[in-house]
Amino acid sequence: MSAPPSWVFPATAGMFVLLLQAAMGNALAQGDAKKGEYLAKAGGCKACHTEDKKDAVPYAGGRALKTPFGTFYGPNITPDPVAGIGRWSESDFKRAMRLGERPDGAHYFPAFPYPSFTGIADGDLRDLWAYLRSLAPSKRANQEHEVGFPYNVRALVAGWKLQFFSPGPFVGDPARSTAVNRGAYLVRALGHCGECHTPRNVLGGPIRDRFLAGTRKLPGGEGGAPNLTPTRLKKMSDGELKYFLETGLYPDGDAAAESMDEVVRNTTSQLTPGDLAALIAYLRSLPPLAEEPK
Ligand code: HEC
Ligand code: HEC
Repeated sequence: MSAPPSWVFPATAGMFVLLLQAAMGNALAQGDAKKGEYLAKAGGCKACHTEDKKDAVPYAGGRALKTPFGTFYGPNITPDPVAGIGRWSESDFKRAMRLGERPDGAHYFPAFPYPSFTGIADGDLRDLWAYLRSLAPSKRANQEHEVGFPYNVRALVAGWKLQFFSPGPFVGDPARSTAVNRGAYLVRALGHCGECHTPRNVLGGPIRDRFLAGTRKLPGGEGGAPNLTPTRLKKMSDGELKYFLETGLYPDGDAAAESMDEVVRNTTSQLTPGDLAALIAYLRSLPPLAEEPK
């Protein structure tokens, strides 16, 4: 065997330095899984990504999400390389959350609330990713969505996005207090409260100038989320509203209906006192909007 040509050594040394720099860059940019766990609560990720049964594996998918267009199933987002998203890179994750795009470029259905999650800050996405990576992998296989034509065609979501989706991180309003801006971020981006509390048109697009004005019940009496602007919410004092968001109990002792009860359990009751106060301050600052016509 002859000695390797002399240019191999500098090339190897150079590559080593590059690899070292890449590794250090990654270490510096590494997200914080503990912070990510808190953000996952603020984003209610577990509810949609966990089957609705006892002993279900958290984040292993299978939750049925009924919509007027059919039933979607939250997928497995544990790090299993086949059943979950174990082969994803951090930038795949960021693309899904910010742009609603799969790693292969296909569009996600907006049953995945990326129209809200697009507002999540880069640093928070990194922490969320670190948290998802820390979960135990589950082999639970995903199931197909049960959605009829044409709502099951991913390519058509492109048109929906053109009309109803504005990608990009949340930008605060410098004219408002830090608390109100923090609350706006929690409500609009992470908490995706508008996904239920903002009325939609026939295409399922949110009606922007009716943000959080509440939705009508469906003909069968199902659904319907109240107006969260001061028009209605002024009936509750800050203390009552805080108590409701911590416990799911109204001032008269009534319990919140199931979908909001879940939001309270998974999200609003888990917020730090500062974040909960900020969320309330933001709701109080909304322009009062009239109730939806009955
Ligand atoms: C309201 C229900 C809902 C909530 C809340 C929700 N998701 Fe999802 N998510 C979905 C649905 C439904 C899909 C599948 C969309 C599709 O197939 O087009 C999805 C898809 C995903 C995907 C892509 C998975 C894949 O295999 O392609 C990721 C990643 C994801 N969600 C992460 C999150 C994170 C992180 C949170 C919390 C910040 C979250 N989701 C909250 C419903 C939800
Ligand atoms: C999955 C759908 C859904 C999401 C997401 C959701 N809500 Fe609700 N919310 C409801 C429903 C439905 C009710 C009515 C509950 C009832 O009638 O008992 C409700 C009720 C409320 C009420 C009581 C208002 C009143 O006057 O009765 C408040 C306050 C509230 N939600 C705040 C929020 C906030 C803040 C968020 C985001 C962190 C949020 N909700 C996210 C469905 C939702």
